Amino acid sequence: MKTLEWKDGELVLIDQRKLPDSLEYFRCRNYRDVIYAIKNMVVRGAPAIGVTAAFGVAMAELAGEDVEAAAEEVKASRPTAVNLFWAVDRVMKSESPLDEAITMYREDMETNRAIGRHGAGLIEDGDTVLTHCNAGALACVDYGTALGVIRAAWDEGKRLTVICDETRPVGQGARLSVWEMQQEGIPVKLIADVAAGYLMQTGMIDKVIIGADRIAEGGVANKIGSLMVALAAKRFNVPFYVAAPMSTFDTENPIYDIEIEERDPAEVLYYGGCRIAPRGTEAINPAFDIVPSDLISGIITEKGILDPL
Ligand code: MRU
Repeated sequence: MKTLEWKDGELVLIDQRKLPDSLEYFRCRNYRDVIYAIKNMVVRGAPAIGVTAAFGVAMAELAGEDVEAAAEEVKASRPTAVNLFWAVDRVMKSESPLDEAITMYREDMETNRAIGRHGAGLIEDGDTVLTHCNAGALACVDYGTALGVIRAAWDEGKRLTVICDETRPVGQGARLSVWEMQQEGIPVKLIADVAAGYLMQTGMIDKVIIGADRIAEGGVANKIGSLMVALAAKRFNVPFYVAAPMSTFDTENPIYDIEIEERDPAEVLYYGGCRIAPRGTEAINPAFDIVPSDLISGIITEKGILDPL
């Protein structure tokens, strides 16, 4: 099963809220279900959000609903990953939203394999690679971007170890990236986010590869915590790569002008359903941060390895 699948007029998603404890599916029967799924992170990760949104618009059209209004509602589901806006605009310009969504679904799989091929050459036999959040199969239709590079290097026979940052507050690294690597049999270890700097200082990390939610003039927006990893990588001379499709590039807005999503403070105040701070504590919960271009060694895309903007 892929992260998302179009089946009998419904969009079936792996319910990522339930992983790694159970593999369950969430059926979107209309575009409102798609909006719910994106907002509540049933599906997440920039490329997966984009393709899901495309199917959402297609469902509105198939149901004879007001497609323009549906497209605007879908676009309002999450603000930071530019793939969402790119995907909705693309299906809206097409003659058949469903055919276009299916094309985008297929393209996503091909794109990730091309990213993997380009990126695998950066990884040496024996490398230990740190990744943050989940830029894997679960963040795309399949294969992944940052984890796609790791998969491709592994398939070339390179021995490597993956270090996953836990990725507080939602735990995409611990719950999703570790799970994906275990499914593939790729050696993986989990660290608390706060350990990344120490591991780099002590020479335990050879490379960092992360995904992106938006790449624009000035830098890259990605999961909160990416900036801290990039700063430590620069300080300790660890190459820091971003892997992403060309659909993640935003050529219209400088990076510091984009909206960084603020999520429910409860994500910070609770962990696994348990409150971790005194009652009445206020929390700040930005979901993304910005890695300035000068901290980035290269951007691995389906077209090759590019300089940051
Ligand atoms: O809030 P999320 O889980 O949607 O954030 C995901 C990330 O930050 C990923 O690194 C990014 O979308 C790249 S996915 C290939």
